[in-house]
Amino acid sequence: MGNQSGESLKEAIDRLRKEKNAVILAHYYQTGDIQDIADCVGDSLALAQWAAKTDADIIVLCGVHFMGETAKILCPDKKVLVPDLAAGCSLADSCPVPAFAEFVRQHPDHTVISYVNTTAAVKAVTDVVVTSTNARQIVESFPQDAKIIFAPDRNLGNYINSLTGRKMLLWDGACHVHEKFSLEKILELKREYLDAEIITHPECKRPVIQVSDFVGSTAALISYTMRSDKQQFIVATESGVIHDMRKKSPDKLFIPAPPNDSTCACNECNFMRLNTMEKLYSCLKNEAPEICVDKAIGDKAVLPVKRMLELSAQLGL
Ligand code: 13P
Ligand code: SF4
Repeated sequence: MGNQSGESLKEAIDRLRKEKNAVILAHYYQTGDIQDIADCVGDSLALAQWAAKTDADIIVLCGVHFMGETAKILCPDKKVLVPDLAAGCSLADSCPVPAFAEFVRQHPDHTVISYVNTTAAVKAVTDVVVTSTNARQIVESFPQDAKIIFAPDRNLGNYINSLTGRKMLLWDGACHVHEKFSLEKILELKREYLDAEIITHPECKRPVIQVSDFVGSTAALISYTMRSDKQQFIVATESGVIHDMRKKSPDKLFIPAPPNDSTCACNECNFMRLNTMEKLYSCLKNEAPEICVDKAIGDKAVLPVKRMLELSAQLGL
């Protein structure tokens, strides 16, 4: 697409971001064209870290709603835009605040650790936020016998419990993308590509985690593929990440792990894929849609998010 001046969509986005002193932050699950034009591409932790330190006037968060909210919580005086306000998250939706706040009230002696994939209102009743990059280390920064509620991802919570010997109380939530990888189809691929390593995000179910050679956050999976001497990887996470893996290791083969419910070979997050270059252009042009967070909620939610950033800095993450 070009406009009347013959400017391409990419050129128009570039011009607008400079004119408006905007920064474009994109998650690895965005389409390749959005990742390529973004100022920074990262996982949930990196997006929050960049938002916290940017001096741009406008943050365009190419990801899903909770990522935009996290940026807004950290930067209440900046304009935070998302290309499509309907880009939600099934994991965040699996933890509605009235039920979660009641659960927290029922366990007053527990520390509340919430994954960043939650609404601002859930963060407001949380003690410390985590992402998949720092969850294990942050849990381990509490005493072994600490009573902990971990929400909302039961798969990540179970995985951390199994690694650390903790008995965290888990909220029963999950991500519809990571839950639906097919163990059978992954093992079929493994029989076809005997040398391939299976690499998996910890939001996946236990049987997939158990057959994996490496389990880690989005950023950890990418760096693993760079340092591994293997040439082939079966990738059990949202397939957008393969764009960056291929850029960083162009000679290696990345095979998306298939879901169990379709004939499609790869597994995409339908929410993440609502964002397009056209919507990115129009959101920069119109400075909308904008993320808004109620001030009273934002004032509470910022505390566990900042605590996560401080702990991550101490942990060197
Ligand atoms: P990370 O970016 O923390 O790896 O999380 C994956 C995810 O599902 C984001 O929605
Ligand atoms: Fe949410 Fe899952 Fe999509 Fe990530 S991949 S945004 S956790 S629904």
